[in-house]
Amino acid sequence: MKRLLPGMLSPQERIKQMIRVDQAGEYGAIRIYEGQLDVLKDHPSSLVIQNMKAQEQEHLATFNRLLVEWNIKQTFFTPLWHIGGYALGAITAKLGVKAAMACTVAVEEVIDQHYANQMHELEMENLEPELVTTIKRFRDEEIVHKDQSLEAGAADAPGFALLRKSIKAITRAAIWLSTRA
Ligand SMILES: [Fe+2]
Ligand SMILES: [Fe+2]
Repeated sequence: MKRLLPGMLSPQERIKQMIRVDQAGEYGAIRIYEGQLDVLKDHPSSLVIQNMKAQEQEHLATFNRLLVEWNIKQTFFTPLWHIGGYALGAITAKLGVKAAMACTVAVEEVIDQHYANQMHELEMENLEPELVTTIKRFRDEEIVHKDQSLEAGAADAPGFALLRKSIKAITRAAIWLSTRA
């Protein structure tokens, strides 16, 4: 496992960094779904999006609680995720419901890997087994979101390959930024 800033952070600082980036990610996820739902509110697929959003709200509530418990300041970039997440959701939904689903596939693929990396890192260092359990459960739910989006036709979205690649890059950039401040 490649460690970020190797040797520069204490385990406690590293865990705080993880919780900060995860809280940011869950917040961004909700904003994506809000953007999608504003555009697709009358579409039959809005139900599945609403259910995914409800799970993200539970994920966010958990990380919000952990921010307080660990005395962590949320990422400096929160206002950007507020606007950018919503825009990403609304724009992809405007391209069509399959493009909206393609957005979820791309984001969840990155998050799946992101959470797997965190689990692995914490387990290797024997740190915070409770946090590992939480991340594992959330990761499993994100994978379900990805599968549901594929079932809803994400891969048939026009320009799927490019859309997926671009949104994965955006998601990785958001993680990178939220890890730093
Ligand atoms: Fe989530
Ligand atoms: Fe999700």
